Amino acid sequence: MKDWPYDVFPTGWYQIGYSAELAAGDVRPVKYFDRELVLFRTQEGEVALLDAYCAHLGAHLGYGGKVKGECIECPFHGWLWTHEGSLAEIPYAPGEARRVKLGAWQTREIDGLILVWYDSFGRDPWWEWPGIREFKDTAGCYPIYPQGADHIGIRKIIPQSPVENTPDYYHFMWVHGAGQPGKPLLWKEDGHFLHTRIGFVFGHGKKSTWLTPDGPVTGEIETEAWGLGLSNARFVLNGFVTSQLTAATPVDREHSQLFDTITCTREPGSDDPEPTGTAARMLEFQKGQIRQDFAIWENQRYVEHPPFAGGEEEHYARFRRWSRQFYENAAEPAREPEPA
Ligand code: FES
Ligand SMILES: [Fe+2]
Repeated sequence: MKDWPYDVFPTGWYQIGYSAELAAGDVRPVKYFDRELVLFRTQEGEVALLDAYCAHLGAHLGYGGKVKGECIECPFHGWLWTHEGSLAEIPYAPGEARRVKLGAWQTREIDGLILVWYDSFGRDPWWEWPGIREFKDTAGCYPIYPQGADHIGIRKIIPQSPVENTPDYYHFMWVHGAGQPGKPLLWKEDGHFLHTRIGFVFGHGKKSTWLTPDGPVTGEIETEAWGLGLSNARFVLNGFVTSQLTAATPVDREHSQLFDTITCTREPGSDDPEPTGTAARMLEFQKGQIRQDFAIWENQRYVEHPPFAGGEEEHYARFRRWSRQFYENAAEPAREPEPA
């Protein structure tokens, strides 16, 4: 047994914040992937993530650095660095060029989230994150910000753990109070993307619950994982949809920054920005449910060869094989053949 499955951080897109929380001119010191970094938004509105230490004499740009146009100014001697990490100007030696630059990270802003690409082997992104359709659909669903953006903070959790919930059909009974295990309906791997559907009886064994007032209802959870950094669970019950994205971004070998972003179908006829009624209750319920998982994950130890039981090895083994591609430097990212 060991605490981390492999020797590197997994490759992929990771959330590092919410667009709404980074205004033009904002500068933040951040730490991810065991690196000191500076996150800022230029006056033109670009999000930039650079290695934090100034190449001149090593000041940390996140502490006192100032945005100037499309650059960040070092607080120590005023050297100006572009949002792409190149040296724009030495203010007291304007004609002098120096062959230095800062490491610049690829970022994206999609559906209100700020993302960064990480690859231990320095490769460029080979996929883009498509986003979450319910996050885009603010007419049909509540906007994710602010009420759907839950900052969990830094926890002792590795990105593998949240996504490993996907093949774990039995944990629903113990962690989430389900009356029976989930039933696998779909398992489809497509390169970095894993798509599944799990059948459920909501309100199993109970005459009536707030969610199922007329007795048990068959519904499903659709899960989508893009690498190990971003995974979404979509709960579908009688046409009412709740979409919940879990994002785990490594801070160091043992800790990740966790974000939980959630929305659901609007109450019929409501154009209120704030969820009400069943929608409000469902969002609070799911925020609580994911906390039950966090409590397990942050105290869990990674077991490399688990003694599986009850048929759980089938999808768990497939999951483990699928996940390996994010830790490896394969010329072509590994693809699992689809079963006939
Ligand atoms: S350390 Fe940044 S300008 Fe000198
Ligand atoms: Fe769970």
